[in-house]
Amino acid sequence: MSGDLRLGDAGARGRRVVLSVDGKPVTAFEGETVAGVLLAIGHIVSRTSPTRREARGYYCGMGACWDCALVIDGRPNQRACVTPVADGMRVETQSGFGPTRLA
Ligand code: FES
Repeated sequence: MSGDLRLGDAGARGRRVVLSVDGKPVTAFEGETVAGVLLAIGHIVSRTSPTRREARGYYCGMGACWDCALVIDGRPNQRACVTPVADGMRVETQSGFGPTRLA
């Protein structure tokens, strides 16, 4: 077993793309959300909370709770459940409020 919970190549899918998750390459398909891909590979913690550093993950799956916020292409607080994957996308687990963009 590969550990990937997605269905095999059966059925119609979008184009195959490769994104990185915490620096590791992951194959996905256009049309999938970042959250769908992360859940399929067992990546269940999207971020840690800002004050208590508690683990957060995917809760509502429809863009309402913000628990799935993580860093995408260097931008913090991006919701994984409503963000479609893209080739070359960089996804990172977020710590607290994420990297600041002050400079
Ligand atoms: S899981 Fe609730 S906003 Fe993404």
